[in-house]
Amino acid sequence: MCGIIGVTGAGDALDILLDGLERLEYRGYDSAGIALIDSSDIYRVRVADGTHSVSILREQTKDAPPGCVTGIGHTRWATHGQPNELNAHPHLDCAGDIALIHNGIIENYAELAAEMVASGHTLASHTDTEVLPHLIEECLLTSDGLVEAVRKALEKVRGAFAIGVVSLAEPDLIVAARRISPLIVGTAGNASFLASDIPALLERTRDLVVVEDDQIVELRPGSVKITDLEGNPVTPRPLVVEWDVEAAQKDGYDDFMTKEMNEQPRVIADTMRGRVESSGRIFLDQLDLSREELASITKVSIVACGSSYHAGLVAKYAFERWARLPVDVDIASEFRYRDPVLDSNTLVIGVSQSGETVDSLQAMRQAKQSNARVVVVSNVVDSSMAREADGVLYTRAGPEIGVAATKTVLAQIIALELLALRMAQVRGTLAEGAVAEVVSELWSLEGTVQEALARDEDVAAVARELVDARDFFFLGRHAGFPTALEGALKLKEISYLHAEGYPAGELKHGPLAVIEPGCVVVAVATGGEMKEKILSNVSEVKARGATVVLVAEDGDTQAASLADYLLMVPRTSTLLSPVKDIVPLQQLAYHLARNRGLDVDRPRNLAKTVTVE
Ligand code: M6R
Repeated sequence: MCGIIGVTGAGDALDILLDGLERLEYRGYDSAGIALIDSSDIYRVRVADGTHSVSILREQTKDAPPGCVTGIGHTRWATHGQPNELNAHPHLDCAGDIALIHNGIIENYAELAAEMVASGHTLASHTDTEVLPHLIEECLLTSDGLVEAVRKALEKVRGAFAIGVVSLAEPDLIVAARRISPLIVGTAGNASFLASDIPALLERTRDLVVVEDDQIVELRPGSVKITDLEGNPVTPRPLVVEWDVEAAQKDGYDDFMTKEMNEQPRVIADTMRGRVESSGRIFLDQLDLSREELASITKVSIVACGSSYHAGLVAKYAFERWARLPVDVDIASEFRYRDPVLDSNTLVIGVSQSGETVDSLQAMRQAKQSNARVVVVSNVVDSSMAREADGVLYTRAGPEIGVAATKTVLAQIIALELLALRMAQVRGTLAEGAVAEVVSELWSLEGTVQEALARDEDVAAVARELVDARDFFFLGRHAGFPTALEGALKLKEISYLHAEGYPAGELKHGPLAVIEPGCVVVAVATGGEMKEKILSNVSEVKARGATVVLVAEDGDTQAASLADYLLMVPRTSTLLSPVKDIVPLQQLAYHLARNRGLDVDRPRNLAKTVTVE
């Protein structure tokens, strides 16, 4: 997830780009860059300095050539290639005559890059993006101008993109295009603008339109022309913006947590993008473990903290069922101080959104000393854990600003399940047809989660009924157990209410003693395999006077008859059920916290990244 901006026709192009990039930093901040069309050159500056990137970029462009009217800018959240200056956008073609910014993921970049290199191009970075200016340079040889060249180039591209392209040969023109990744364009007087999102442009214009998938835009001073990929004109969809900048950064939602929950469908698709080949082979690009190395693994050990630990617990069921591998899942701060039995045939998977959590980092280092193969599932490219691991699987969720992990947890589950499937393929433990079925269900989760999110008002209504409750038990069995743990953690974290997650079958071994009227039991009663058993556990708590909230699947009348309140979710297979069952639990925590007037993005006593022991 990156932020892009472009302007042509304004006397102060550089200021517009820098101001816009500041407004876009919430989309990514590991590096930033701009390119301006000067009279005979493309002036380009890129900076990779984390959260300071845009301010340093402002410093470093103090001596930019004055009076440039056309330029593009980018703020990056890396998905391919380290967050360094070399990989920062804009990227150039070989001649340095074309500059390009990109938000999205080019799925077939490896094959396109090989094609470009074979045609004599030199690629300087490790990004998926850089192939695009070279492809456009190549297409220009047989095209009548930049627009046609971009159109031809995009015919070859698979994946998600919103791009802005400038060329020295047509100095007033910016060509933009979109597939999946967001893009808006607008005008004000003689200036025309593009951006990935509204905050970048709000101070310049509210005369905006949304670019749809597979549309190409020609931005010239004061004019914006939108066509489809074949060149047919299209009628643009105007965008009515009533937000201020802060509301726009939150996409109009009240807080980042809601925004991030609503990004979950996109994040699921992005985490899968380019990693499942049409042949059905799972291709985990930066994992860096050969088929032989994967085949030599006899045990998996997952280490993580907090919500990442819960994602690891969910994955355990998949590794065991699909790849028939024994799996341990440890809380990193415990793993560090026991004496785990690891060897070179153990695959240790560190799961960490930030990649900086000190307990997870230290656990990973300890595993390396035992000669285990160590890989990391992280949301931050080049984080400490990513740098030190033997291989990485990035979650591509984009920056998560709310302290409560939401979209990154779902992304972790998807990434881990892809790895479990890959292991199953290598070990031959799952028939190709069965792999294809899981892959197809994984793809469908984008829609399933969208549907779950759309039921937010039903969850809000339940939260209103529970406004006086102070004690919550979250119960689940099998894959529903980590879901219950995650539901309890979310509630504790943002509402400050007492909540415990428990395996439902353990209830009678102690916790049942505290169940009494006034207790709320939230039970995850999905996942066909264990449903009967969990419903019988629910009967036990109901008999003791607890208020029962059930997460149940559409059409489940049996669950409905037992519950005081129902949180209905779409149906899925058991192993993938946590991906959608977590959603109403996030929403429940959210609404209970909001009803108590709390700041859901910044809960007390907590930090987004925990770098102390
Ligand atoms: O960055 P990490 O995934 O390593 O962080 C681990 C936990 O600190 C984190 O998941 C924490 O529990 C969240 N605030 C939960 O919402």
